[in-house]
Amino acid sequence: MMPTQRASLANAQRQHWQNTYRAHPGMYGSAPSASAVYAAQVFRMARAEEVLELAAGHGRDALYLAQQGFRVLATDFSGVAIDQIQRTAQAQGLTERISAVAHDLRDPLPTKTESVDAVHAHMALCMALSTNEIHAVLSEVRRVLRPGGTFVYTVRHVGDAHYGAGNPHGDDIYEHGGFAVHFFSEQLIEALADGWIRDDFHAFEEGELPRRLWRLTLTKPHQDSPSNRSECARLGRPQPPRWLEC
Ligand SMILES: C[S@@+](CC[C@H](N)C(=O)[O-])C[C@H]1O[C@@H](n2cnc3c(N)ncnc32)[C@H](O)[C@@H]1O
Repeated sequence: MMPTQRASLANAQRQHWQNTYRAHPGMYGSAPSASAVYAAQVFRMARAEEVLELAAGHGRDALYLAQQGFRVLATDFSGVAIDQIQRTAQAQGLTERISAVAHDLRDPLPTKTESVDAVHAHMALCMALSTNEIHAVLSEVRRVLRPGGTFVYTVRHVGDAHYGAGNPHGDDIYEHGGFAVHFFSEQLIEALADGWIRDDFHAFEEGELPRRLWRLTLTKPHQDSPSNRSECARLGRPQPPRWLEC
């Protein structure tokens, strides 16, 4: 797909999400996703305070993380969704703990270098982003995380019933019912983990389809700690778990 076609797909997707949130406010409900419940536990154990939530939608997870005591910055490229987060935060008296800004994942993240302790992204990286754009998001997450900070992300994958169905856009992106999804392969997961400490890999399902998802937990290494198998082998240190094989 040419870059101009990709840009027009992304812009059409933004319009589609805007229309969807306008027509179905709070469409994912008010209960947090299983990913957010897990992330809150991991972030608490890591003593995180500042959390960035990517592609937060109308904020079921960002609001939950704020309720759990974290200070949350929620982002999404749908201004309609951002308004819904702000209104719910106001109604729940959470405006001290959560702010929400419109942000497109194709742009640099709207936070300073090493300014957040944790990042959560549930079904965010698997939107209509090219492989290069996904790698760029990972680099940005790494930039804004403090050393030792945690990144929990989930993505739909090639085992999902919608993989290969609907309108193909190349690069494992398929559009079904107006929603374009980049279905992740193991190779992509592996490539994205390069340079991170790999804490956990977990396969799970969500919703009625069901959507088939992988959840990754990665830690940004301190400069002197080895993060991958070849580096550990070179230094004679214990190997990290082969979490993709479990
Ligand atoms: C499947 S929904 C998940 C929403 C939320 N994480 C949740 O689980 O409730 C995907 C979200 O990604 C947002 N999105 C899609 N492409 C995006 C992009 N390029 N930049 C920022 N947000 C994007 C959509 O507006 C939508 O809110």
